Order: sequence, then structure tokens, then C-alpha cells
Amino acid sequence: MKYKSQKVAYLFFATCMALFVLQLVYGFIMGFARMGLDGLHDWIPFNVARATHTNLLVVWLLAGFMGAAYYILPEEAERELYSVKLAVIQWGSLVLVSLVALVGFHFNWWEGRKFLEIPRPLDYLVVVNVLAFIFNIGVTVWRGRRFTTTGLVLFGGLLSAALLYLPGMWTFQNHVFDSYFRWWVVHLWVEGVWELIMGSILAYLLIKLTGIDREVIEKWLYVIVGLTFLSGILGTGHHYYYMGAPEYWLWVGGLFSALEPLAFLAMALWAVFLANKGGRKHPNRIALSWAVGTGIMSFVGAGFLGFAHTLPQVNIYTHGTLIVGMHGHMAFWGAYAMLVLALIAYAMPQMTGRNLFTGRIPVIAFWTANIGMVAMTAAFAVAGVAQVYLERMLGIDFLVVQENLEVHFLGLVLAACLFTTGILLYIWNFTRYGLPRDEALEAVR
Ligand code: HEM
Ligand code: HEM
Ligand SMILES: [Fe+2]
Repeated sequence: MKYKSQKVAYLFFATCMALFVLQLVYGFIMGFARMGLDGLHDWIPFNVARATHTNLLVVWLLAGFMGAAYYILPEEAERELYSVKLAVIQWGSLVLVSLVALVGFHFNWWEGRKFLEIPRPLDYLVVVNVLAFIFNIGVTVWRGRRFTTTGLVLFGGLLSAALLYLPGMWTFQNHVFDSYFRWWVVHLWVEGVWELIMGSILAYLLIKLTGIDREVIEKWLYVIVGLTFLSGILGTGHHYYYMGAPEYWLWVGGLFSALEPLAFLAMALWAVFLANKGGRKHPNRIALSWAVGTGIMSFVGAGFLGFAHTLPQVNIYTHGTLIVGMHGHMAFWGAYAMLVLALIAYAMPQMTGRNLFTGRIPVIAFWTANIGMVAMTAAFAVAGVAQVYLERMLGIDFLVVQENLEVHFLGLVLAACLFTTGILLYIWNFTRYGLPRDEALEAVR
């Protein structure tokens, strides 16, 4: 750590850990409900658990990205953060708005649009919050002494993500229009601008952890940004197949979304190749494992399992089934959850001056979580294929099929226990680092 103000990232990282645990609690509530053990139904019905689970995910990932920006951008711009005070206020208001929204879901205060459930009045507060964040990092970058590709792509990704929140706030009476613009947020986030955030954070980590020249690493960042935009923007069409949008989206969406895995493949190869070439010089090897793991798991979850249901001929059967859960879990895990955990694994020793990245615990946490997630994905896949066959091909009634699938959720819950063990170990190690300290300035490389 070079600048004192980078320490503010800790607040965001700690928030990630807390909200992640809560997200998993709601995952278990749903896992049990899907097995038929729905004792909490009167207090937390499935729709509430689902909205809480997915919104907690989005909030902790956004908190992670914000913490990442506060940590990375001062170093890239070679100056202190514009205002630590503003960052703390912005953190506090983010936590407050998120908690109000999450409690609100439990009292049926929500909008009912998947992933965009947050009620409208709170949307305005989110906008103010994000403006404060963008202003703070924007001034930092603008007044900085150095403009790096990594820093600019990170800032550009965050700014575009903020702007793309707005189409979700447009109100329509017509369901087709509503769906159409909802995807501008949901799809263009995860398969567009968030990939810029991913590419730049990975670039930062690879620069730090492999010791390879910045120029070499950043050259590939351009390729990744190019591939992302080439495929991801028109790839939005893979959500427009059978929802009332014009027919040309069938081939436009099919063709361009089929190219989307290329960007994830490029990131995977980039991370693996650089990690090997760099000879793994940095002592924090586990942070490098998380970074390379991000490349690999995102390619499998987003690229491979996304491709598996992206062609209209397949999607007509799989749309809205547990096949989507299979893909959604591993894609979010590989691309964004692992990315945030990679940065935290790198930043904590830097911020506290303590070396807790060696030894067995961090390695066990890494493998247990990843093997657990692979097993969870497999459980969703088996349930999803069975669902598609029974419900969509044989035409058996939806609810009858759901009952038949209950057994698969036992597998899911067991796999989730393994996954959760890994995550709890990671979080336990996180707490062992304690609070960031000024003595850590330049203490560890
Ligand atoms: C304890 C671990 C977890 C369990 C038991 C669990 C379980 C579930 C269940 C049962 C659903 C609802 C599926 C349905 O019936 O439609 C769901 C949805 C979802 N979960 Fe999890 N989950 C867990 C962890 C995670 C993690 C770590 C992530 C992200 C990294 C995640 C991301 C999602 C997403 C994105 C959805 C919505 C998928 C869709 O749109 O169809 N979950 N989860
Ligand atoms: C990290 C990147 C990605 C993440 C986090 C992600 C996550 C998700 C989630 C959560 C959904 C459910 C959305 C909803 O119903 O509201 C979804 C849907 C979908 N994703 Fe992805 N995805 C990613 C990349 C990709 C890629 C690269 C492809 C194609 C190659 C793809 C193909 C699809 C398709 C076709 C659907 C629609 C499923 C349906 O018809 O119900 N995804 N994705
Ligand atoms: Fe998409």
C-alpha cells in the first residue's frame, strides 16, 4: 500500500464479507424450500428469499468493485484519494439504502422485476450514492499524475455501469418495452461493462503479482475490451428471442452472443499465460490463484455454460428453467465473486502489513469453495436437464415436475455446505488480518 487513503477500501471489503454470508443464508432457505422443507414460508416466501439472495449478491459485488476502485485508483493515478470523508459517507449510505431495500422486500415493498426489485424511491438514493462515488474517483483520476490504461478502463467501466443503471428506471405500461430495457441493465452489466471492471482489476493484479511489464499486460486489455464490445452489445439479443421483440433478434442475438465466450477465453488465456511466464515471483501465491481462477472459472461458467443455452434453437426449451441457475451461479462466481475475493486476498496483507496468505487455510478455502461451486453447478445442471425434458418436452405439468425435482436439491444443499465451508474459512482468514494500519505503508510488496 502506497497511500493512506487506500485504507478506506477496508470498509467496503468487510461489507462484502458480511453481505456474502447473508446471501448464502438465503441460498440455503431456498435450497431447503426446493426440497419441500418450506417451514419459513409464512415469513420468508420463496419470491422474497430469491430477491434477497440475488440483490445481496449484486450489492456485495458492487461494494467489492467500489472498494477495488478506492484501493487501486490512488496507486494508478499516483495521488491520494480526493476525499476519504466522502468515501466513508458514501459507504455508510450504501449500506443503509441496501439494508432498507432488503428489509423492504420482506414486507412486500419491491418492484417485482428480477434483479431490479429495489423500489423506485430507493433507486433515486442509489443514483445519488453512485454519483458521489463516481465524483470521488473521477476527481482522483483527473487530478492524478499518471493516466494508465488499467486505471482508465476501471474508471470507464464503473462510469458506464452507473449510466446503465438508468434504463432500468424507465417506466412503461407495456411489458415488452419493460423487459426490453431491463436487459440493458442486467445483460449490458454482466456481459458488457462489468467485463471492463473485471479486465482492469485482473490487469492490476497481474501487474502486481507476476512482475511482467505493464505494457505487455495492458496491450491485451485492449483486445479484451474490443472483444467484449464486439460481441456483448448485440449479444443482448439472446434475451429478445420470444418476448415480443422483432424476429431479426433471433439471428442477431444468436450470432453475436455465440461470440461472447471469446472475451472470457481471452481473459482466461491471458491470466494463465502471464502467471506461468511470470514465474510466480510474488510471495502472495494464493492471490494469484484467485486471479487465475477468475479467468478459468468465468470462462467455464459464463463462456461455456452461457453458450450452452444461447442459441435460439436451444433457448426455446431452456428459457427460465434451472439451466439458467446452473449458468448464473458459476458465471457470477467465476467472473465477479472470485474477482473480488482475488483483490481482497491481495489487498489485505498490503493494508495491514500482516502476512497471513501462506499456510494451509487460504489454500483449503480456495479449493473447497471452488469444488463446492462446481458441484452446485452440476446439481443445478442435472435438475435443469430433467426439468427441460419433463416439462418442456413431455409437457408434464409445471408443479408436478417441480415436485419430481426435489431430490436434486438435496444434492445442491450438500454441495452448498462444501462451498460455504470454503467461504467461511476465507472470511475467518480475512478477520484474522484485523484493521488496516498506517505502518503498512510500503511494508509489504
Ligand atoms: C449456499 C450457497 C447457495 C445456495 C444453496 C443457492 C441456492 C439458490 C437457489 C435455490 C436459487 C433459486 C433457483 C430457482 O429455483 O430459481 C438461487 C438463485 C440464484 N443464485 Fe444462489 N445459491 C447459493 C450461492 C450463490 C452464490 C455464491 C451466487 C453467486 C456467486 C449465487 C447466485 C445466484 C443467482 C444469480 C441466482 C438467480 C439465478 C437465475 O436467475 O435463475 N448463489 N440460488
Ligand atoms: C460473467 C458473465 C455472465 C453472468 C454473470 C451471467 C449471468 C446470468 C444470469 C444471472 C442470467 C439470468 C438473468 C435473468 O433471467 O434475469 C443469465 C441469463 C442468460 N445468460 Fe448469462 N451470464 C454471463 C455471461 C453469459 C454469456 C457469455 C452467455 C452466452 C454465451 C450467456 C448466456 C445467457 C443466456 C442465453 C441467458 C438467458 C436464459 C434464459 O433464456 O432464461 N451469459 N445470465
Ligand atoms: Fe445476456
